[in-house]
Amino acid sequence: MNTLDKTSRLKVALQKSGRLTDNSLDLLVRCGLKYSRGKDQLMCFGENMPLDVLFVRDDDIPDLVQEDVCDLGILGLNVIEEKRLAFQAQGVAPLFDQLMVLDYGKCRLSIAVPDGTEYKDARSLHGKRIATTYPYILGRYLRDNDVAAEVVTLSGSIEIAPRLGRADFICDLVSTGSTLIANHLWEAETILESQAAIITTPVAVSAFKQEWIHRLSMRIDGVQQVKESKYIMLHAPRAKLADIKKLLPGSESPTIVPLDGVSDKVAVHAVCRENVFWETLESLKSAGASSILVLPVEKMLA
Ligand code: PRP
Ligand code: ZN
Repeated sequence: MNTLDKTSRLKVALQKSGRLTDNSLDLLVRCGLKYSRGKDQLMCFGENMPLDVLFVRDDDIPDLVQEDVCDLGILGLNVIEEKRLAFQAQGVAPLFDQLMVLDYGKCRLSIAVPDGTEYKDARSLHGKRIATTYPYILGRYLRDNDVAAEVVTLSGSIEIAPRLGRADFICDLVSTGSTLIANHLWEAETILESQAAIITTPVAVSAFKQEWIHRLSMRIDGVQQVKESKYIMLHAPRAKLADIKKLLPGSESPTIVPLDGVSDKVAVHAVCRENVFWETLESLKSAGASSILVLPVEKMLA
């Protein structure tokens, strides 16, 4: 492996500063990446993997990947969908491919209304001005609901548009909801659910890069599975084994190990792919299990 050859290094675009930045970098680190950060903070150079990270505005990521400036991009489904619709409107086929959806960055694109203003359903939007940075997704929603409203496309600070008199309603991303509360708005309707995803360049990459994209996606799968997974070890009376196995959440066939000098009990070891709650342990104990240990799983490769 030649990790120093610049032409064979994967370039990954990440959001510069926002809800996906920390989680995305953390994901790459969990996939094994060790990096040094450039002085300007705009790039991270992979030290042990042929992979560099570019920090950019999330709205620019689809173009950077589409134009093959970057091989991969991590961004919200909201931005991907908006870009797809924008390309469609221009009669251009979106060429970037969606590689996989990630388990973080959950948020929603919603219609929000100033406190004190009524909203019943989509028909309440009729004849109103709605400020957004997502004109295509909003436009589709209005068409689907047969509503004639004016879409006011702004580039940012959507939440202050009603106070400035530029719009009656807004259509913006909501995560915790604190931006809406701070701006005296309430969330009336969700029009799109979103979370993080990875897109890849449409351009054929070298076999070497392809191999690394494959390795990275396998590792991401592993990282995502591990988050919820636990390794459970317990002692079970042979007579209760069937009941106890049924209680192990999301586990495939557990390993049964004999216990030295004890004939009526066995040790059960299982990887549980779902969260293990205190309630589960209590049920296992009631079913006859003892010496129950729950351990975190650090890495997993299917
Ligand atoms: C969104 C949105 C709000 C904020 C809502 O911006 O425009 O400002 O997040 O989050 P909250 O419900 O947790 O308060 P985002 O971080 O996506 O930045 P961007 O739109 O500039 O890319
Ligand atoms: Zn953005």
